[in-house]
Amino acid sequence: MSPTLLAIESSCDDTSAAVIRGGKVLANIVATQEVHKQYGGVVPELASRAHQQNIIPVVTQALLTAKITKKELDAVAFTRGPGLLGALLVGCSFAKAFALGLQIPLIEVNHMQAHILAHFIDEPKPAFPFLCLTVSGGHTQIVLVKDYLNMQILGQTTDDAVGEAFDKSAKLVGLDYPGGPLLDQLAATGNPDRFTFPIVSMPGYDYSFSGIKTAVLYFLRDNKTQNPNFIAENLPDICASIQNALIQTLLKKLKLAAKETGIREIAIAGGVSANSGLRRAMQEGATRYNWNVYIPDFQYCTDNAAMIAMVAHYKFLQGDFANQYVSPDPRYKV
Ligand code: KG4
Ligand code: ZN
Repeated sequence: MSPTLLAIESSCDDTSAAVIRGGKVLANIVATQEVHKQYGGVVPELASRAHQQNIIPVVTQALLTAKITKKELDAVAFTRGPGLLGALLVGCSFAKAFALGLQIPLIEVNHMQAHILAHFIDEPKPAFPFLCLTVSGGHTQIVLVKDYLNMQILGQTTDDAVGEAFDKSAKLVGLDYPGGPLLDQLAATGNPDRFTFPIVSMPGYDYSFSGIKTAVLYFLRDNKTQNPNFIAENLPDICASIQNALIQTLLKKLKLAAKETGIREIAIAGGVSANSGLRRAMQEGATRYNWNVYIPDFQYCTDNAAMIAMVAHYKFLQGDFANQYVSPDPRYKV
């Protein structure tokens, strides 16, 4: 069967709708909310309101782009969590009403599973079992992916997510929100070995990223005392050195997990997998450790509804539907 599905993503600050047929993406529309920039971070209440404004235009645009009418849809899917409660509520309520109005099934999707299944949108696709390093603004996890919908978290952050560490460090050096991509750009021309930041090692496959933020804070404070223009004069090197420490921290546990499980199929997913330094480090891992590395296309790294639609596709095939009593789960586990 080749189900035609509409999927909606509204877990954070991107409102997105996608249409897929038989697992093939026909449309993937993303409206990124600019309103948060001026506050230096996502303001949950503003995110909910922007989702309300964006959701109908985004869904309309997705259907138009896919050249699909509402009557052709076999089901509607939405992100149930994890994410911001108010933001999730907008997508969840919309999908429920849509399913009710069209008398079609409803499918609830875990956002973190969706980041991983973004690997099944295009070729090449990883073979099961594979390890996925899922790195976003809210999560940092090493996941053992046994099948499309059968996943086990081997390790995760015990405090901040790596995306948060990127954004907070970027803010400390004076970059706009979200600073991760800007820090990445500046790092491209800097020397990653110029300054040293801590590579924190936690037990097992777990991570901790709160220390590096504090280390950056004290490093900048001390150097600015000696030279008020320290940041301006050394910005690319500072960015490259911070990025290097974050990537080395990520890779240390990923290498350990690959070694101890004997798995050589290695994927990265989530917003931070757009980072050019991390992408390069993964390619180096492929050569050095004989890994088969999978990195999603840029458009499927950050939040999007196409990845939600992929999970929905496999849930549809299993007949795994939600009912009208389903509610968002801000801490929904993989
Ligand atoms: O997956 P995502 O779009 O949203 C969440 O589910 O959190 O990830 C957003 C995170 C932000 O922290 C953003 O700064 C980070 O991904 N990010 C990057 C890059 N592009 C996005 N971090 C470092 N380098 C990048 N190029
Ligand atoms: Zn995400």
